[in-house]
Amino acid sequence: MAALLLLLSFAILHLKVSAKNPVLAENQEVLTHASEAVNAVLDTVSDSSCSLVFLSDGSTSSSSIYSVYQKMQSLGGPMGVGVFQVTRERLNDNDTEAQAVHIMKRVRELRLLSWCVTVLAVSEEPQFLASVAEWALQNRLLVWATRLLVLTRLPLEDLRHVMASHWTFSMMNAMVLNVEERTEFASCGLYVHLPYSDQGPSTVRVATWSRARGLQLLSPLSLFPQKFLNFHGATVNVTALPFPPYWDTVEESSPDGTTTKGFTGTDYLMLEAIAGALNFSIRVLPTANWDEVTDRVEDRTSFLANVIYAVFPNRLLRYDYSYMFEYAFHAFTMAKPALKPRWQSLYYPLTDGVWAAILAVVIIMPLPLILIVRFGTEDFTKGAIGPKLAVQEIIRTLLGQDLSGYFPSTHSCRLLLALWLVFAFIVGTAYRGNLTASLTAPKYPARPETLKELVSAGARVTMPPYGAHFRDFFKQSDSSDFKTLGERVDIVPTAVDGLDQAVTRGQAHMEARRYLELVIAQKFTRADGSTRLYVGRESVFPGLSAWPVPHDAPYKPVLDRCIMAIVEGGLYEKWSADMVSRARQESRQKEQLETEAVESEETDGGTRALTLTHMQGPLLLTLLGLALAGVTFALEILVVWCLASRT
Ligand SMILES: *[C@@H]1O[C@H](CO)[C@@H](O)[C@H](O)[C@H]1NC(C)=O
Ligand SMILES: *[C@@H]1O[C@H](CO)[C@@H](O)[C@H](O)[C@H]1NC(C)=O
Ligand SMILES: *[C@@H]1O[C@H](CO)[C@@H](O)[C@H](O)[C@H]1NC(C)=O
Repeated sequence: MAALLLLLSFAILHLKVSAKNPVLAENQEVLTHASEAVNAVLDTVSDSSCSLVFLSDGSTSSSSIYSVYQKMQSLGGPMGVGVFQVTRERLNDNDTEAQAVHIMKRVRELRLLSWCVTVLAVSEEPQFLASVAEWALQNRLLVWATRLLVLTRLPLEDLRHVMASHWTFSMMNAMVLNVEERTEFASCGLYVHLPYSDQGPSTVRVATWSRARGLQLLSPLSLFPQKFLNFHGATVNVTALPFPPYWDTVEESSPDGTTTKGFTGTDYLMLEAIAGALNFSIRVLPTANWDEVTDRVEDRTSFLANVIYAVFPNRLLRYDYSYMFEYAFHAFTMAKPALKPRWQSLYYPLTDGVWAAILAVVIIMPLPLILIVRFGTEDFTKGAIGPKLAVQEIIRTLLGQDLSGYFPSTHSCRLLLALWLVFAFIVGTAYRGNLTASLTAPKYPARPETLKELVSAGARVTMPPYGAHFRDFFKQSDSSDFKTLGERVDIVPTAVDGLDQAVTRGQAHMEARRYLELVIAQKFTRADGSTRLYVGRESVFPGLSAWPVPHDAPYKPVLDRCIMAIVEGGLYEKWSADMVSRARQESRQKEQLETEAVESEETDGGTRALTLTHMQGPLLLTLLGLALAGVTFALEILVVWCLASRT
């Protein structure tokens, strides 16, 4: 890196050699007066691994730049130096503008390559300084970590005006070194503009430099002070639109009956905590739609959008993001599959193997019974018990009926029957117990829980309007599942529409998981707490999200620190859980009121009645028995009739 920067040293870009300004030629250049002051300031603030960028308007000769550089070298000076020059002539010319943009791009490259950069802009022209401010902003020259030192010679009034009226000087990490006396006792003032101080926005003289006494601090502020640690109660503009549970509006009623509009939601609560820490008050600018929310951020009227936005490459071209604190996992929801009425419900409590074993036992059992009765007793009148009676006896005891009493009272026979009764008791109890359980807590059919299952289920997927970004993103994926998903996404106006369609048309709806859970809790929860929809177990897409802030926002480091502290403290998760549980409670209360109003009899004292869905099996069995008996009866009649007619 160091070698690369040294290569960049003295990459002097001359746009156009200007004719020397006669006024300047008379006086000496501003840099020669103040080179020692510049060195003193840079020496106190920047370490030797920083690179230095000279930016001048062509009025500074290369010899004076070189002398500053030499002094710096002798003090262990900068790692790399870039010298860039934009001539002041024809400043409003389009060509100059284009070339200035080109130069700014090169400076930005240098900044991105370097560990740290200090920019030294030298000019006596307020107009040039204003242009530098604009170019720096447009070409993203500076971030907070980049220091900008402006060396100039302006009346104090002009200086204050220039500093206050440009974002680059007022908000960024910029200071101005103003040459005030040009005698051999040269003296300079060092100024900084504080956008937030206890006297409101103000330009402060932080230090003074004179050849005799060197650099003297005049205020408790350090050089290049942090500007955003305390906003001193100032108002900060933000934009947002309702997107619960992240951001929402609420009506707060005060004791005297008036209602005021308030805000809530995890993101708002987080900003409120940050506002407390940094001492500012929040003003939510009115916006009509989501585009306007970020447009206000782009033009820096709004300091941040107070709602999470998923990070996409094309969005990064328009604005930056705060620390990315939220994985807005996107999940899908579908209607819970309904239980289909099943006549097999009587069969399910036992497995095939058990049924087969029971059948085998029932078939085999009569045989030993008959044998024992035949050969185990002398009383042959009782021994006349045939297979029919034995089978009847086995089946009636299996179904829980009493013994017929026809069987002899020999020990062997009693023992066999007792054994059989124990078997019948255990099997009967197990079956009845399992039947009750399977009827009241039925097994639901398999439902899609992962992306793969969703795709193979073949359902359409709805998303809210912002889903268009996601759809394009999915279509570009290498994964065939995501590609298929991208082709199946339909856009619906709101989440509630999507969820309604999920219930009625068997579609899936995809959305940030927290939001889905909240809307389901609010709108699709019954009074008993159950819901018609379920959220797929596996998230489809981890939507890394954060608040949009303007490009290179200088307060981003301070903001990020606060966000990190809140997220690491677990407060964000806590707020989120609170929001969802509150919504669920409110929804349940509302449902309860409605239920009481219509006096619904569906839920009877909290117990659930068995429906036809559960009880279809036994009813069908009865019908089948009736039908069989009917057919048999008809056949019997027919046979009797046939025999009668033959005789
Ligand atoms: C500079 O650009 C503006 C708009 O892009 C154009 O209207 C104007 O004519 C241009 N001026 C020159 C001197 O090219
Ligand atoms: C917040 O700002 C107000 C207004 O300047 C000031 O009075 C107050 O002391 C500040 N609070 C903190 C904690 O800095
Ligand atoms: C904040 O918003 C108000 C009203 O739109 C505007 O007048 C003001 O300039 C904004 N503040 C900043 C710092 O942009």
